[in-house]
Amino acid sequence: MNKNTHYQNLQPNYLFKEITDRAVAYTEAHPEHKLLRMGVGDVTRPLPPAIIQAMQKAVAELGQAETFRGYCLEEGYEWLRQAIIDNEYTPKGIDLDIHEVFIGEGAGSDLGNLSELFSSDNKVAILEPTYPAYADASIMAGRPITYLPCHAENGFVPELPKQKADIIYLCFPNNPTGTVLTYAQLKEWVDYARRNGSIIIYDAAYVAYISQPGIPHSIYEIEGAKEVAIEVKSYSKSAGFTSVRCGYTVVPKETGLQAMWLRRQCTKYNGTSYIAQRAALATYTPEGQAGIHANLDVYKATALLIKNGLQTMGYEVYGGDNAPYIWCRSPHGWDSWSFFDHLLRQCQVLCTPGVGFGPSGEGYVRFSAFSKSEDCIEALQRMKEQI
Ligand code: MLT
Repeated sequence: MNKNTHYQNLQPNYLFKEITDRAVAYTEAHPEHKLLRMGVGDVTRPLPPAIIQAMQKAVAELGQAETFRGYCLEEGYEWLRQAIIDNEYTPKGIDLDIHEVFIGEGAGSDLGNLSELFSSDNKVAILEPTYPAYADASIMAGRPITYLPCHAENGFVPELPKQKADIIYLCFPNNPTGTVLTYAQLKEWVDYARRNGSIIIYDAAYVAYISQPGIPHSIYEIEGAKEVAIEVKSYSKSAGFTSVRCGYTVVPKETGLQAMWLRRQCTKYNGTSYIAQRAALATYTPEGQAGIHANLDVYKATALLIKNGLQTMGYEVYGGDNAPYIWCRSPHGWDSWSFFDHLLRQCQVLCTPGVGFGPSGEGYVRFSAFSKSEDCIEALQRMKEQI
């Protein structure tokens, strides 16, 4: 047996595991302190009653002979795929075939697994700082990566790759900087991909947080994008499903990859749980919509609360307006991990060190607005007193 030696090129620990490990070590050493968690982007608000009721009904159905179900289609139940098209795409004028929508267990897995569709010598371009799973999946596959730095000087907007990239990962609204692209900016990427025969893997996990008008909520709002883009979306951040596990990926036939992805899923994925898919369907009912929007409103308000609080204290901050993350320059010229450690030890506040999202994140940290707002208020007060 020969191991996949590309794993040696990964960081020893995955970013969010490293943060969790440090938080556990700290709380074990200091059980008397209350740790305020603004690190991993994990939701804290209870699921709306309409979604809970849908799951309870689904569970009850599995207990009755007449309504029991076994495996579903690997690509998901048609009623959910059609509801996604009807609610997320048709109103935007986007025409999708039901066979182009694949239900999965959340964006994270698909973003990694899609990598299997491409030849190992394909060149990858990844904006950075960004969600570390894109680079990790590419490193595991041994693909050469070109990083596209995003920093305050370029408004955290990546420039087009200077050399041809075969696979491009984009994430907008961006995790962690909160940057959004206008239609014109996103069109430049679609046009680049069409010119160069590239594929864009578009992580749209945070579109529910866009407040600004004139910002695309799907890459398919751009003409020609169906030829060159795969869009990955999740109910985790839009509907609070981090524990339920459900998301979906759109692989248009025009990309030439739809049949391959179906083939891959049939072999390697036995489908998303019936209960989770019923929960996802319930997000499109009037009651489900009201419930998830009430939660989104709280997270959006918390994002502004953190952003305004940090700005009032004199921090240089970005994001928070169209994303649940606040990107904050470390004070005193500290590097990301120094500020992370200082916040943990002095204030018992957990954040995410910016450098974990890429080298251009050095000197920044990220605060998550998924935390309880009362915890964020307390965290800001501790920072005011201790830093
Ligand atoms: C994060 O950036 O905190 C992540 O989104 C967590 C995840 O979804 O994997």
